[in-house]
Amino acid sequence: MTSLPAIAILGAGSMGGAILDGLLKPGVEVDGRITVTNRTAAKAGALASDRVTSLALENDPGANLTAVAGASIVLLGVKPAMVPDLLREIAPALGADAIVVSVAAGVTIASMEALVPQVVLRAMPNTPALVGKAVTGLSAGSRASASDVALVRSLFETVGQVLEVPESKIDALSTISGSGPAYVFLLIEELSRTAVAMGFSEDEARVMVGGTFLGASELLASSSDDAAELRRRVTSPKGTTERAIAVLQEANLSELFDRATAAALVRARELAGG
Ligand SMILES: NC(=O)c1ccc[n+]([C@@H]2O[C@H](COP(=O)([O-])OP(=O)(O)OC[C@H]3O[C@@H](n4cnc5c(N)ncnc54)[C@H](OP(=O)(O)O)[C@@H]3O)[C@@H](O)[C@H]2O)c1
Repeated sequence: MTSLPAIAILGAGSMGGAILDGLLKPGVEVDGRITVTNRTAAKAGALASDRVTSLALENDPGANLTAVAGASIVLLGVKPAMVPDLLREIAPALGADAIVVSVAAGVTIASMEALVPQVVLRAMPNTPALVGKAVTGLSAGSRASASDVALVRSLFETVGQVLEVPESKIDALSTISGSGPAYVFLLIEELSRTAVAMGFSEDEARVMVGGTFLGASELLASSSDDAAELRRRVTSPKGTTERAIAVLQEANLSELFDRATAAALVRARELAGG
């Protein structure tokens, strides 16, 4: 059983909404209100329930102030460019002991701590949060105690696994697990394209490729062996897989991933620099 205090999610879109789903799972108890905000009434209406107060700025321009009043955790789920203005807006209504957690890419803890006196943490979840299988990087701000970090960790554990990292590593983590689902989808797209080129239907390709990624991931998750060992087991000496792997390795995949993640890291620094 996970126990969490009253929480406000400001900007319950794709990521904030996934975290809201985590809070509504069986086994998670929120001691107090869950309040979420969005800009549009249509979006807010879809999230309202007996356990969730869902407010729209469209109906009530003070919705963010209402939401944070009494909240022990305030999760910022808006786009990165909106975070500074949102913090300025809610500063007068934030409780002194509230913990502010941002999931905004590229917005530094120092920039947020400069705007509010509360404890601030920064998190980088990924989209499998939507199915409760996120990997979230979590960095503590300078005012966060071990118990603050533990509390926020338990919040993100409602949607998957959590890795605590110093903020200096969060952009690097983002190039692996934040962007990582896109790398996996690209591999799936390309292998599916090959299957269709071989004469399989789109549906057959989806079963073959999607099923293989899922099955291989689950095999890895349930095995005590690492990926390299599991790969060796599929690769009989002088067999067909060995030939295919040799061709893939000619493309120097490890160097390719080094270059791809380095490019993402350069972009993260550009974005953080404005
Ligand atoms: N998606 C990801 O993979 C991912 C991963 C890690 C981190 N993040 C971070 O998560 C944040 C949100 O991304 P997202 O993909 O979830 O975007 P999103 O789906 O557009 O969600 C943002 C939400 O904020 C609402 N909003 C806009 N202005 C607001 C305001 N002033 N007050 C309260 N709510 C407001 C929007 O409502 P309306 O739609 O009604 O305008 C929308 O529902 C970003 O900072 C991003 O860096 C995203």
